[in-house]
Amino acid sequence: MNEGRKVFITGASSGIGLAVATLLCAKGFDVWGTARSVSRLPVLARFHPVVLDLNEPEGMAAAFETAALEAGGFDILINNAGDVVNAPLEALVRNGLRAQMETLFFGPLELIRLALPGMRRRNTGVIVNVTSLAVQFPIPFNAGYSAAKAALSSCSECLRLELTGTGIRVVDVQPGDVATEILRRTRELNTAECDSYEPNLSRSRAAEAGKMEAACLPEKVASLILALLSAGAPPPRVAVGNFFEAKVATLTSRVLSRRMVEKLQRWIYKLS
Ligand SMILES: NC(=O)c1ccc[n+]([C@@H]2O[C@H](COP(=O)([O-])OP(=O)(O)OC[C@H]3O[C@@H](n4cnc5c(N)ncnc54)[C@H](OP(=O)(O)O)[C@@H]3O)[C@@H](O)[C@H]2O)c1
Repeated sequence: MNEGRKVFITGASSGIGLAVATLLCAKGFDVWGTARSVSRLPVLARFHPVVLDLNEPEGMAAAFETAALEAGGFDILINNAGDVVNAPLEALVRNGLRAQMETLFFGPLELIRLALPGMRRRNTGVIVNVTSLAVQFPIPFNAGYSAAKAALSSCSECLRLELTGTGIRVVDVQPGDVATEILRRTRELNTAECDSYEPNLSRSRAAEAGKMEAACLPEKVASLILALLSAGAPPPRVAVGNFFEAKVATLTSRVLSRRMVEKLQRWIYKLS
């Protein structure tokens, strides 16, 4: 059933993207997977390496078009690549916010724009946007990240409505903490403004690292994505993570007032 289905996935060099690419190749999909350097990409049967930087729009479009020609069009687009810039919003505005929006929002939207004409022509396709549980629980000092993920999540829902009556499915996958390279590669800004946010800034960074100790493995996200690719009618959004994040937290965000969610976040990130 999966034999020959063509997938384009960003961020296939580590973490969730690598786990998804590895699983899909093993299941018979043909996978075109990206990274900014070819040397970070895996060597696997059915895997086609693509060099792509989400912060370079022209090169990104060219890389996608070349891969699409090679593949004869994509059945599946998985917007997965991402990174984090950690800083108070006040510092972030002039030091990385636009780049975060490019990586996590405008880049993925551009890939959707490039993938849709082929999917509409064939009246079939699946678009998976890997956002974050931060959509429901915005993270302090990760405002750019949280905002970009929320924007992509919102666009996923709009797109689902706009594609009503077609055979194209869109799913928003919202991971909680997943044991990948993301935390180690997070860029922590330490500009002059940062000092004014101490000790909360340091406490929240330590809390984020502590939370990662209970993180689930990227293979769990990969299994979920595999199941979603075969679902006739996937749900608009799915949370994935450890039991607390996937079940308790998502229920909490539905039933608690935003004031209570805020209290919970202050407690989790040790803000006072
Ligand atoms: N891990 C978590 O706890 C967690 C939680 C919620 C959501 N997520 C989301 O899950 C997705 C995958 O993250 P991960 O945890 O697997 O992180 P990861 O291990 O750090 O992998 C990130 C991937 O994104 C690529 N990437 C980063 N910046 C890029 C850019 N500007 N252009 C192109 N590619 C870029 C990296 O490729 P290079 O080789 O080029 O660096 C790498 O393949 C992200 O969207 C992240 O926000 C993760």
